[in-house]
Amino acid sequence: MRLALLGCGTVGSEVVRLLHSQSADLAARIGAPLEIAGIAVRRIGRDRGELPVDPTVFTADPFDLVKRDDIDVVVECVGGIEPARSWLVEALRAGKSVVTANKALLAEDGGSLHDAAAQGGGDLYYEAAVAGAIPLLRPLRESLHGDRVTQVTGIVNGTTNFILSAMDSTGAGFAEALAEATELGYAEADPTADVEGFDAAAKAAILASLAFHTRVGAADVHREGITEVTAADVASAKAMGCTIKLLCIAGRGTAADGRETVSVRVHPAMIPLTHPLASVGDAFNAVFVEAEAAGQLMFYGPGAGGAPTASAVLGDVVAVSRNRLAGVRAASESAYADLPVRPMGEALTRYHISLDVTDRPGVLAAVAGVFAQNDVSIATVRQGAAGSGTAGRDEDADLVIVTHVAPDAALAATVQALRGLDAVRSVASVLRVEGSA
Ligand code: NDP
Ligand code: HSE
Repeated sequence: MRLALLGCGTVGSEVVRLLHSQSADLAARIGAPLEIAGIAVRRIGRDRGELPVDPTVFTADPFDLVKRDDIDVVVECVGGIEPARSWLVEALRAGKSVVTANKALLAEDGGSLHDAAAQGGGDLYYEAAVAGAIPLLRPLRESLHGDRVTQVTGIVNGTTNFILSAMDSTGAGFAEALAEATELGYAEADPTADVEGFDAAAKAAILASLAFHTRVGAADVHREGITEVTAADVASAKAMGCTIKLLCIAGRGTAADGRETVSVRVHPAMIPLTHPLASVGDAFNAVFVEAEAAGQLMFYGPGAGGAPTASAVLGDVVAVSRNRLAGVRAASESAYADLPVRPMGEALTRYHISLDVTDRPGVLAAVAGVFAQNDVSIATVRQGAAGSGTAGRDEDADLVIVTHVAPDAALAATVQALRGLDAVRSVASVLRVEGSA
């Protein structure tokens, strides 16, 4: 089996190392030896340390490499939409099999890759694209195909989980926790994709597509990041017996006209400490899958890093290589259900709302009236004095309100109306609450 490796950075270099150290076992498992025929990189002369590979296999021309007739499998560890899409479409149309870790591309335009694979007859595998080393896509794509998945809830971004875990354990604010994550190498120099939720949204789209047999793209995912989460939110969550996590939530639902739908969202949320995802700390990932017959399944492990991600890549390389030797291809994309994506406004959730209000008679009634007007039921109200600590007439007070479950649109309208209320000086924070307490 002759491989073309595109990219030799954090993940690609570990793929090379693992291929070398496991070569005899991999050959035995596949039934043929794996050989790296070429490695495409951006900077040929870059110092790559002690890499166990013939230096002459490096090229700066990925297109030339994927077009070669002697290549069986293209392994893409570069990332980004273009030129990666063009390389992979070219390879797939020519009948090569592709293994990729590129979640951004799969979420943006997975359809083009699946179509090209169907046209060329090769395999398209991408286990490493979601939750790094954790075997998750194969179970969704194969093991659970006899069942009906109803909900997928996960922590799929290690960087933000590290930041939120640090805020929870030390009481630090977002900026301080992000600085620590950067110093320890968890966050990239530009952390936007992680902290604004783009990375998790791409993974959510991939998970939803597989779970619900529907093409879901990044644009279908409601996305909010963690930059607005404050130390006060974390403290408030603790007071409720909760912790804050950046969740990806994908589930089936029913539209007003009775049609089945899917909804896919990524946002920070308070979850009770008793929830299976609450104890997932540091940079770990975990995904909770609920299926009608199987019940509740939990997948947990390292979601990033060179070696863990290379493990998933190599697992795919073995699978597609075996298929090629056997002259078969795995089942292709399953998107037959083609379910419509429900707008965020229809998602059912709960809000935790912190208000700065004037402490005088009638304020609580006025605030409660806004909830009633929007058909949102209040579950709990907690009032604490702000400022001097001796709440009195016309002083400030903090009001923390947690709602019962309601459509997100009604909850958002409630918050909007609260902002316009005379007695409300400011809406200090709004966070969703997920999982039953
Ligand atoms: P890196 O930035 O470490 O490596 C990227 C590699 O691609 C480098 O070798 C670079 O070359 C090469 N490259 C970049 N642009 C080009 C180009 N135009 N032509 C040829 N080669 C190019 O990325 P990672 O290894 O971290 O990530 C790779 C993929 O894996 C991404 O899709 C990422 O989302 C995914 N992934 C990463 C995880 C992780 O923990 N890092 C986890 C899960 C998935 P050069 O070395 O010369 O700069
Ligand atoms: N930036 C990603 C994370 C890498 O923090 O989880 C793995 O996809």
